[in-house]
Amino acid sequence: MTDAENHGLERLSRDHREMAEVYQRYLLLVADRQIGEADRLLDEFADRMMRHLQEEERFWVPLFEHHYGESKGFGAKLILEEHKVLERLLGALRFLVNTIAQRKRPLEAQQVLTVLEESFRFRGVMSHHHSREDNVMIPALAALPGEALQED
Ligand SMILES: [Fe+2]
Ligand SMILES: [Fe+2]
Repeated sequence: MTDAENHGLERLSRDHREMAEVYQRYLLLVADRQIGEADRLLDEFADRMMRHLQEEERFWVPLFEHHYGESKGFGAKLILEEHKVLERLLGALRFLVNTIAQRKRPLEAQQVLTVLEESFRFRGVMSHHHSREDNVMIPALAALPGEALQED
């Protein structure tokens, strides 16, 4: 694998770590009832996550599928299904947070709990998905010879 390709794979892992950090900041804002700021940060997080998913789907997931199929315990089908679940949960969460933020009223304790519950649900799915990629897909891709990685 060339340096540029390795760099791309390193970026995937780094993205996972950085997304987790941004998400943690978002959770703290919710806990602190700063819902307007939380709403803005969640939008930023979502843009970042969508770019990440698109990059994986454009290049890395097809490459993983081509070379490994289902031989690593899962294949592209599962990864893409999980991406759809992440998109759906994140869309619902953004809608919830945005709706509450628009009301411009102080947040009630019950609303904080509802947002946190949904937020933790999303984080659970995201963490599971990132671990799957960090522990299996990315190391498998990193093990491919450089010539296997030429785009058509
Ligand atoms: Fe992914
Ligand atoms: Fe990823």
